[in-house]
Amino acid sequence: MPEVVKKIYDEYDGPYVGMTQGFMPLLMLKRPEDIQAVLAGDFQSFHSRGIIANPNDLLADNLVFISDYQRWKILRQKLSPVFTSAKLKNMCYILDKCSRDFVDFVEVNQNMQEKPFNALYTYTTSTIGAAVFGIDTQTKNTMESPFLEMAWKSLEPSMKQNIVILMSNVFPFLYKMLELKIFGDYEEFFVGAVKKVLAERRRETTKRHDFIDICLELQKQGMMQDNTGYELEPTDEILAAQAFFFFIAGIDTSANTMHYTLLELSNHPKILKKLHEEIDKVFEGVSDEMTYNDIEKLHYMDQVLNEAMRKYPPIGVIQRLCSKDTYLPSGVKISKDNIVLLPVFALHRDKNYFPNPDVFDPERFSPENQSQINNYVYLPFGEGNRICIGNRFARLQVKVGLARLLRRFTLVEQNITLTFEKSPFGLRSPNDRYEFKLRNV
Ligand code: HEM
Repeated sequence: MPEVVKKIYDEYDGPYVGMTQGFMPLLMLKRPEDIQAVLAGDFQSFHSRGIIANPNDLLADNLVFISDYQRWKILRQKLSPVFTSAKLKNMCYILDKCSRDFVDFVEVNQNMQEKPFNALYTYTTSTIGAAVFGIDTQTKNTMESPFLEMAWKSLEPSMKQNIVILMSNVFPFLYKMLELKIFGDYEEFFVGAVKKVLAERRRETTKRHDFIDICLELQKQGMMQDNTGYELEPTDEILAAQAFFFFIAGIDTSANTMHYTLLELSNHPKILKKLHEEIDKVFEGVSDEMTYNDIEKLHYMDQVLNEAMRKYPPIGVIQRLCSKDTYLPSGVKISKDNIVLLPVFALHRDKNYFPNPDVFDPERFSPENQSQINNYVYLPFGEGNRICIGNRFARLQVKVGLARLLRRFTLVEQNITLTFEKSPFGLRSPNDRYEFKLRNV
């Protein structure tokens, strides 16, 4: 999908391009001023992603899917504290334990070296399982996460799910009448898992600083209320829906970010060497556990990751539904119920914004250069009010995993041209690989 959209973006001049998706008209926006208006300035007209979910689809009642403004706002407000710096600092020990299990796992498991994407996917599943679902990291090997089987299942293309999503877009009337569920197959497992862990943790006195702690706190406070008097009860089901979407939104995106970073590093030995030097310097001061402050010192790694997410944004298109007639800064009128599409991948590869866009160059994100980049043409996590709620967690999870991995291994140099699989949202190359080699440090 991002490549198809890029082709259209490159083919037509002008600030926008009209398209259709099924029977639905949509407008692709190309100008940063219009994109800014949609994501931030005129948020009241564009607060919804326009994804239709039936009320009986329990797991679809999540931050990503919710269209009801008040419901989204109150949940976003109450869940944002999960990802503050203070919370992430406290959570870092969980990620560090997962990363240590991860590199041991890669070292002994030949199969994981042959399919490196699978190893990364196992790591991101285990970190989300531990940090969001409260899996015990003290006594267990986190690479044996009970969520793995579900994670693989959610990655497999499902004909049934595709048909339901297609019906919701093309025949919304029928989709509503039949009360079809997009996430029906996962409901029992996830609602059950969250109910079980909430019940167990209500009996515990110690805090683990994870998502489950926040859920228990919210439930203790009772009804959630905003300043207009709107109320929402933090039931186990609604909290399970959020946890489920942290899982869906966080695993694949973070694993792909790590994967493309490693693929590019195996093609660029000089960049890899510079990154190794930074990682080694940080590790000189680390006795056993890596802390949040250690990870914060990895500035060059941030540049490398930013560049990997520019070239290969895990979510390559963003959409919004217009909820009331409005005009964008370029003068175009958007009518209520029309969809606007933001071509993230195409913007990231537009030579007007990123000269030589196909070249992997982390210097674009050096402190001097980064300030030149317009926030509305670089959108790996979106922007504005509905920006990815987990972006700081994702960066931390990815940096901890890569730091441990590249401390123990280096990559054999190669000159690989990547191949993309068919995918609806992002760029995916799970079969492209690189070879790990143990380092002498
Ligand atoms: C590298 C990893 C990740 C990338 C690239 C990514 C990217 C994105 C993007 C592009 C959006 C849509 C923004 C928009 O529409 O403006 C989004 C939304 C979201 N992401 Fe992420 N994400 C990542 C990791 C995570 C993680 C780890 C979590 C949770 C633990 C998460 C939870 C969410 C949620 C809940 C939303 C919806 C927010 C809302 O509508 O209020 N994401 N993400």
